[in-house]
Amino acid sequence: MERLSLLIELRDHPGALHELLGYFLAHSIDLTHIESRPTQGGDMSFYVDFIGRPEDQNVTALLHELKESVSSLTILDERTVPWFPRHVWELDQIANRTLDAGAGLESDHPGFSDQAYREQRARIDQLARNYRHGQPIPRVEYSTEEAETWRTVYEALRAEHQEFACDEYQQIMAELEHQGLYRADEVPQAQDMTNFLYPRTGFRLRPVAGLLNSRDFLNGLAFRVFFSTQYLRHHSRPTYTPEPDVCHELIGHAPMFADPAFADFSQEIGLASLGASDAEIERLARCYWHTVEFGVIRTNDGIKAYGAGLLSSSGELEYACADYRPAGGTKDRPEIRDWVPDAAAEQGFPITEYQPIYFAAKSLNHARLTMREHCRNLPRMFYARYVEASQSIWVDRAVRTDPIQ
Ligand SMILES: [Fe+2]
Repeated sequence: MERLSLLIELRDHPGALHELLGYFLAHSIDLTHIESRPTQGGDMSFYVDFIGRPEDQNVTALLHELKESVSSLTILDERTVPWFPRHVWELDQIANRTLDAGAGLESDHPGFSDQAYREQRARIDQLARNYRHGQPIPRVEYSTEEAETWRTVYEALRAEHQEFACDEYQQIMAELEHQGLYRADEVPQAQDMTNFLYPRTGFRLRPVAGLLNSRDFLNGLAFRVFFSTQYLRHHSRPTYTPEPDVCHELIGHAPMFADPAFADFSQEIGLASLGASDAEIERLARCYWHTVEFGVIRTNDGIKAYGAGLLSSSGELEYACADYRPAGGTKDRPEIRDWVPDAAAEQGFPITEYQPIYFAAKSLNHARLTMREHCRNLPRMFYARYVEASQSIWVDRAVRTDPIQ
């Protein structure tokens, strides 16, 4: 027996549900499922399914009548969504679709004319490209120069974290240092960090050769997988990197994934990105940017950072969080706005300079709850949940996807 699924939007008013059911009753069609959600525009959105085919006489009549009467009618079975991974091992299909030059550095990269650095980048690039889900993450042998770069960055940042990092981050870092996983004299390995994270929140790092597009990157978060580079910035400029590197990933991002509220928050964005339209991906990527990269919390003790772009950049960390103008700073103070997902989703951002605007949540839990609410109200063709036991995505209705691009 064939089933048909409809998404119907109706102006919200008393008796809206009764009115909707009336159409089905009039054509002797029994519903097998119905659920409703308010839409952002103030309408009610109903998802219904029933046994029938569009060519059946009573179904044709029903669809005709609905088209005339409701604000919007979508026959879901006729629509497809962009491909998305359904199982964690399907991340293998997107992990190597990097956007940037990878090991072939651009001419303005600080390591461009350093042959040894380029060879190391090529080795690390290959490790990431050969990696498949389930394998242990390859350990990288870092050179003395790279270890020195790590030390310089680590020591400078750790001094500033004391003042400007959120409490959750400080506690996790203290634990990492206590266990000897993080220290100034050795670059941590991604597999060791995964071993730390996984029992705490189910998060894992997965090697990647460079930047992914927003859709692929965010899709990984749905599985509690964070795509993480393993190369290091060039030693000639330890405070600068034109791309995410180990300092950014392991100092900025990875520790926060040990916090349950932050882990849930990140996964919410990931789940909402599955099969989302390009426009919605752009909105989610802006939310990601203003939180996971540059998020702050307003505390009794001032503004504190939880975003990786801040936790891994001593200059911007002080600029964003200090209640004074940083010494020698030439920039004006940034604007701190309250964290509202809808507003962040619309807010553009510069990528090569300090942010002019930061969004401050009341707490990580506040960020999580508001993001969850935001994602639940998105106009979606389906809703997705991650099933830990099978490491796969469960969707609440049959959904047709485009072929993988
Ligand atoms: Fe990042």
